Amino acid sequence: MHALRSLLFFLPSLAAAWSAPNYSGYTLLWQDPFNGAGGSQPDTGTWNYITGLHVNNELQEYTTSSRNLQLSGGSTVQLVPWHDSSNPTQGWTSARIESKYTFTPDAGRITMAEAQIRFGDNPTNRKKGMWPAFWMLGDSIRHGTGWPACGEVDILEMVNGALTGYGTVHCGTSPGGPCNENNGIGGNTGVADQGWHTWRVMIDRRSNNWQSESITWFLDNNQYFQVTGSRVNNQAAWNALAHSPLFFILNVAVGGNWPGNPDSNTLDGYGSMMEVAYVATYRSN
Ligand SMILES: *[C@@H]1O[C@H](CO)[C@@H](O)[C@H](O)[C@H]1NC(C)=O
Repeated sequence: MHALRSLLFFLPSLAAAWSAPNYSGYTLLWQDPFNGAGGSQPDTGTWNYITGLHVNNELQEYTTSSRNLQLSGGSTVQLVPWHDSSNPTQGWTSARIESKYTFTPDAGRITMAEAQIRFGDNPTNRKKGMWPAFWMLGDSIRHGTGWPACGEVDILEMVNGALTGYGTVHCGTSPGGPCNENNGIGGNTGVADQGWHTWRVMIDRRSNNWQSESITWFLDNNQYFQVTGSRVNNQAAWNALAHSPLFFILNVAVGGNWPGNPDSNTLDGYGSMMEVAYVATYRSN
């Protein structure tokens, strides 16, 4: 086990370190490029490590162990699910981190939130139950507002290893409400492979009219879904999504309502990880 882990620490460092790109017409507001030594962990000044948290009938126990959450040494972070017999009740361990950083989309501007992400190369048909995600919640949930009134913007979710990326908003009240809970309002796109891709939402407030403002989802600069204020058709719900502080979440859930549980074919470990090269926000000039 130790030899294998050392090898895996070493391999990513062969690649050049990289961080969030610069985009013409935009100012980089914030990024975490996940720099640091292989086997060390994300900065606890930047990220809250989440433990426990049993929602959506998910099986995983989130831990703070570097087995589940580590910097690769090649300027990336790896969230690694393990099927762990030391945890007999749930059987799986994994990781979830939430940014202390929040940002508020500016009136009159475009704000972009994005990450570059890849997935471990276990075969897609050996990932039943895997539910990796890069998403945001309204910071008001940290100050007493419930879900989904706090607002949720899912930049990327994938389930069961399928090469489909999902983008979704949740808002208002549940069930039903302006965001059609508990499904939310969402779209999806095919993904060519499990390798590196850039996943982004663009929150466009240039119109200064909440009904014509929009949230747009991109895979590698290609738009695949858009929601406008008028589609949500509820100003308070739209304000929670597009006018209010948001924070980032990276996690790999295992099992639960959407993917269903892993089966005997499901593989754990680095081959089922989510690896993130950077998380960043930008504002139009
Ligand atoms: C982006 O621009 C800044 C300022 O010019 C520069 O320091 C940084 O290296 C650039 N980043 C990349 C990824 O090229």
